[in-house]
Amino acid sequence: MARLGRNRHHPPAQVERPLPDDVPTQIDVLKVPVHIACVMDGNGRWANQRGLPRTEGHAAGEEAIVDAVDGALALGVRYLTLFAFSTENWRRPADEVKFLMNFNENLLLRRREEFSAKGVRMEFSGRRDWRVPRKVLRRMEETEFMTAKNTTLTLTLAFNYGGRAELTDAVRQIVESGIPASKIDDRTIGRYLYHPEFPDPDLVIRTSGEQRVSNFLLWETAYSEFVFPEVLWPDFRRQHLYASVLEFQQRQRRYGGLSS
Ligand code: IPE
Ligand code: IPE
Ligand code: MG
Repeated sequence: MARLGRNRHHPPAQVERPLPDDVPTQIDVLKVPVHIACVMDGNGRWANQRGLPRTEGHAAGEEAIVDAVDGALALGVRYLTLFAFSTENWRRPADEVKFLMNFNENLLLRRREEFSAKGVRMEFSGRRDWRVPRKVLRRMEETEFMTAKNTTLTLTLAFNYGGRAELTDAVRQIVESGIPASKIDDRTIGRYLYHPEFPDPDLVIRTSGEQRVSNFLLWETAYSEFVFPEVLWPDFRRQHLYASVLEFQQRQRRYGGLSS
């Protein structure tokens, strides 16, 4: 993995103007978040409300992923990171875990060509350890390879991802590298994250009304803006993405300083 400096100052999103017709005119094209991260939550509740098994909620979430990607492309967002499976989700019933492994593998098979045709580069973030079935790891590697040259949008699936695991892995590597303690600063840690080359998320969207982090991007979200739409993930569509971006554009980011 590249150990380049973590570049926090990426250029603003570049989009063809005018924005597509379905994008609200109030959105300021010059202040579109460069990186949006989503905690795709509420699949189980969506299914419960319909008397369906929880797994049907996960399956219905696929349409939301596809529409969120199209919305991100329409806005000119450069990075979209989706939390698909956490290091704590192994605690769920074995059937659900098994479903999620197969579902995510098949999602890649079903969608990667369509995403790639839209210029989407696909990446993964998380521990690629013995718990992830080998066939899923293989699909991930193939998908990264297939889409590596695309440049429009980097779509990252956080899979077997935990913020604490990521920081633990970083600390282990830093210790192994022999860097003297006095030389370690926050940029050092940034260089040992799973994707040191990604900018930090500007905006984090967690659906379903839950207002917690659940071990997502703990380091990277130090100064992210959070929005918590009530919509359950399977019902999430690009209009919800646009609404979240509008909410983001009302915020004043201060990074500990004073607003000018
Ligand atoms: C999010 O939906 C998807 C995953 C965690 C894989 P949930 O499955 O957490 O749905 P709720 O929170 O139970 O409704
Ligand atoms: C976070 O949601 C993980 C994913 C969306 C993949 P959870 O549903 O697992 O989080 P908690 O358990 O409600 O905190
Ligand atoms: Mg949940």
